[in-house]
Amino acid sequence: MLENIEEIKQAGLTALVEVKDEDALNQWRVTHLGRSSAIMDVFKNMGEVPKEERGAVGRAANQVKQALEAALTEKMAALHEVALQRSLGEEHLDVTLPGRAIPRGRLHPVTQTLREIYRVFADMGFQVYRSREVETDEFNFQLLNFPPHHPAREMQDSFYIKTDEDRGDNPFLLRTHTSPGQIHAMREFSATDPENPPPVRIILPGMCYRYEQVSARYESQFTQVEGLAVGYKITFSDLKGTLSDFARRMFGQDVQARFRASHFPFTEPSAEMDIECFLCGGDGCSVCKGTGWLEILGCGMVHPIVLENGGYDPERYTGFAFGMGPERITMLRHRIEDIRYFWANDLRFLEQF
Ligand code: PHE
Repeated sequence: MLENIEEIKQAGLTALVEVKDEDALNQWRVTHLGRSSAIMDVFKNMGEVPKEERGAVGRAANQVKQALEAALTEKMAALHEVALQRSLGEEHLDVTLPGRAIPRGRLHPVTQTLREIYRVFADMGFQVYRSREVETDEFNFQLLNFPPHHPAREMQDSFYIKTDEDRGDNPFLLRTHTSPGQIHAMREFSATDPENPPPVRIILPGMCYRYEQVSARYESQFTQVEGLAVGYKITFSDLKGTLSDFARRMFGQDVQARFRASHFPFTEPSAEMDIECFLCGGDGCSVCKGTGWLEILGCGMVHPIVLENGGYDPERYTGFAFGMGPERITMLRHRIEDIRYFWANDLRFLEQF
């Protein structure tokens, strides 16, 4: 009986070698594992096997059935592989099909605006100067001629940094504007030749922080680009010419700019520059609130006290400075209504630029 079972296995495996396609394999399955196959007959006729042999015969029959099933699975996989290779050989590759697009990262909209600003000022000979985000009250306010009780110094405007030592009236804080960089830069430049400090022509970009009630118009962090030019005989005309030229290069050759008197402690005189609304061409729309003008930046002639604090003799040197908000410019350009989008990191917003 046991030899008989072994023969059933050999017959099945031998026949399988001849199988060359799926139809033949199905036929093989019916013959060698189907209901009336030799191995199934062994199970069916188990009653006729003497009791003491039944265990051994049953075990052997099970092993053979499993071996045949395993051989079937293996053969099926082999046939599939052959079919696949054949179809790859026959099919043609259409090299004209468009490829699958690879999702690409992109620059943050504010970075794009910043780079445009750098490019325009680089063309005019301004270098980028970076300075720290953590400042002292001295640099952020005192050296910039802020009067002692100026409202910008109050707790509601600045993020002060707690320190173990009591720093008295010179605590650390996060800079509220990029203007303290003016002092750092002038001191570094003037230190190279204290008697005849070299001229300065720089822009100072970077993140600023204010303790604001966050809303659609105010964020507690935002970027600024400061500009500073110091030298002999620099006048308000130079300021106007430089910034009008900047406006034309940034917003279009036909754009008109106007200057309104304003006030900053570190410039005298001070002004704000408006440009003609590029959305309505000056006719008045919701973005310019019907005025036809958009406020773009603050500026002025560097205050003599600030020049002196930077190591430049105000009797011999003059200069101008300006500061602008890239978020605001980006908002105007793309009609973005809420400043909070910029740093919320929502891809649905960022992917639009
Ligand atoms: N620091 C000013 C602000 O934050 C902007 C400014 C810079 C104005 C330089 C004049 C000159 O509003």
